[in-house]
Amino acid sequence: MINVAVLGYGTVGSGVVEVITKNKDSIEKRIGKEINIKYVLDLREFPGDPVQDILVHDYETIVNDKEVEIVVEVMGGIKPAYDFVKRALEAGKSVATSNKELVAAHGAELLKVAKSNNVNFLFEASVGGGIPIIRPINQSLTADKITEITGILNGTTNYILSKMTDEGLDFDTVLKTAQEKGYAERNPEADVEGYDACRKIAILTSLAYGKQVDYQDIYTEGITKITKTDIQYAKKLGAAIKLFGTSKNIDGTIYSMVAPYMINSEHTLYNVNGVFNGIFIHGNMLGDTMFYGRGAGKLPTASAVVADVVDAAKHSGTNIMTIWEEEKITLGNMENFKCKFFVRVKDTNKQDIEKTFGNVSFVEVEGVNDELAFVTDVISEGEFDNLIKNYTLINRIRTAF
Ligand code: HSE
Repeated sequence: MINVAVLGYGTVGSGVVEVITKNKDSIEKRIGKEINIKYVLDLREFPGDPVQDILVHDYETIVNDKEVEIVVEVMGGIKPAYDFVKRALEAGKSVATSNKELVAAHGAELLKVAKSNNVNFLFEASVGGGIPIIRPINQSLTADKITEITGILNGTTNYILSKMTDEGLDFDTVLKTAQEKGYAERNPEADVEGYDACRKIAILTSLAYGKQVDYQDIYTEGITKITKTDIQYAKKLGAAIKLFGTSKNIDGTIYSMVAPYMINSEHTLYNVNGVFNGIFIHGNMLGDTMFYGRGAGKLPTASAVVADVVDAAKHSGTNIMTIWEEEKITLGNMENFKCKFFVRVKDTNKQDIEKTFGNVSFVEVEGVNDELAFVTDVISEGEFDNLIKNYTLINRIRTAF
C-alpha cells in the first residue's frame, strides 16, 4: 500500500482527494498497489467532510510517520511550504507540488535534496495546470535543443484579454466581472502584472536549459495598460493581444520576458482563448510542438498533481533524473532583443515618424483621430527606447507578425 499525505485542503487539495477517490481503481492499476490518503493537513476543521477523520493540524505527525511515502504540497506560498517539502524529502518521502512560487524559487535545491535522498520532487502542476509540460520537457523532448518556449501561461489574463476582444470592453470592467465570477482573485496583482506567468516561464526555461533562471531577472510587463483602443487597432491588423511568457535562445544567449504581444492568425497560439493556456516549443530537430488545455482550476490541476503521485509511486526507490542545476543562467540584455513594435503616439505627424523610424506601416481605426498608430520594422528594444524618447507615447505593444 502507498500512503499519501496532502498538505492543504483548499481548492487543489480537495481536488486531489476527489481525483484519488474517484479514479482509485485505474490509479491503483497503474501503480500496481493500493493507494491510501492517510492524512490531510490543514489548520481548519471540516465538519461533515469525510477528510475530517484523517485531518491533522500538526505537520510533525506526517513527517515522522514512516508509513507516509508521498507528500502532496498544495498549500501555495513559500512559508511554510519550503520547510515542509524539504523536511519531507530529507525524511525519504517523495513530494508532488503545484506550487509555482516554491518551484521557481527553490526548484534546483529541492531536486538536489530529492536526489541525495533517492526520492522524487515532482511539480507537473506548477506550470500549465493540467497540461502536461514539465514531463514532456524532462522526458520527451530530450533529443532536441530547445530554441524557443512561448506560452500563454496565465488563465486569468487570457480570459480578460479574450473578453475585452470579444465584447469591446475595457480592462477594469472585465476584471470586475471576472472577480465577481471567481475567475480572478480579489487581489489580482500576481496575474494582471504578469508575476504568475513570470514564475512559470522561469521554471520552464530552467528546465529547458538545465540551469537556474531567477524569475527576478526576467523582464515582466502585465496587461494593465492594454486598453480597448489597443484592441480596436489589433482587430484592424487582424491580430489578437495575448500575454506571453517567452524564452528564446538566440545565438547562445537566452532572452526571457513576460509581456503582451500582438499576434495574427498564423501564430500557433492565436486560438488559445478564455481561461485556456497554450505552450509552444521549438526544438532544433523536432521543429514546432504545442501543448494546450486547462491551465488552472481544481480538477485539471489536481489531475496533474495526482499524475505525479502515480509517477512517484511507480519510481519508489529510484530518483528520476531531472537536470536543473543551481548555477545561474545570465539572461541576455533586453536592450539587444529585437522585434517589431505596434506604437501609438500623440502630437506628431507621419513625416516626422517616418524620418525617425524609417519604414513603418500606419494603421487607423474609426473614431480615433487625435493620435498616430503604426507598426515598426524589426528593431532592438534599446533602439526603440532611444527613438521614442522625443515623442508622447500612449502605448506600445510588441508584435509577432
Ligand atoms: N492564477 C493562475 C492563472 C492560476 O490564472 O492561470 C494557475 O496557476
